[in-house]
Amino acid sequence: MTDQPSRLVLSAQGGVHPKLAECVARHLAHPYLKPYAAHTLRAFAEISPLVEQPDRPLVFDSCCGVGESTAWLAKAHPEALVIGIDKSIHRLDKHERGYRPGNADNYRLVRADLEDFWRLAVAAGWTLSHHYLLYPNPWPKPGHLQRRWHASPVFPAVLRLGGRLEVRSNWRLYIEEFAAALSVAGIPSAVEPWTAETPVSPFERKYRDSGQALWRCVADLEKR
Ligand SMILES: C[S@@+](CC[C@H](N)C(=O)[O-])C[C@H]1O[C@@H](n2cnc3c(N)ncnc32)[C@H](O)[C@@H]1O
Repeated sequence: MTDQPSRLVLSAQGGVHPKLAECVARHLAHPYLKPYAAHTLRAFAEISPLVEQPDRPLVFDSCCGVGESTAWLAKAHPEALVIGIDKSIHRLDKHERGYRPGNADNYRLVRADLEDFWRLAVAAGWTLSHHYLLYPNPWPKPGHLQRRWHASPVFPAVLRLGGRLEVRSNWRLYIEEFAAALSVAGIPSAVEPWTAETPVSPFERKYRDSGQALWRCVADLEKR
């Protein structure tokens, strides 16, 4: 994953998608009722007893890939339980094979679909202290707008989870759109360049090694 030089994200889209605001407003107004996948229900039930310890902050590393960032975040938040979530068993399986920095034990990796896991966490009343979404798939084709997390029907669940949300990408427009989607929900955010001096994940490392500019959007989400 790290050997190939990384290419810049190319898109026919020159600015924030013209349908973004309408799309986000629609999702904010209508509940997302897609049935939960059985494997995510099982994974959620397995991790729940660990989460439901009173007074322990909870951090999500959503789209954690091989979980390298999850281990780093566990060191950065020693008081918290950090959960790395990814749908790819192929990536998660690599964690123990070279992507386990340090010896923190306050984290777990979970194989689950975030479309379901986020909604299950909201339904269970979980509240996050921090939520990291590092280098989500950009889906740069304009026709794939709703595959981007901020334009997905599950976006309201991300807002309801609360906490300090940090989204990083090598595609500036993704970050600008994320901020625009937050502002449709009335949430202010900061869009800023990000320098990965010590990369925390394979994607962050390959973008840094290819000399690409990185961007992040940061917002404080009140519990809603
Ligand atoms: C570009 S990779 C970034 C991985 C990691 N954060 C990093 O920086 O190296 C995006 C990750 O999102 C995961 N992903 C995409 N859609 C998902 C979903 N619906 N549920 C869970 N994980 C998902 C993919 O499996 C993939 O590992």
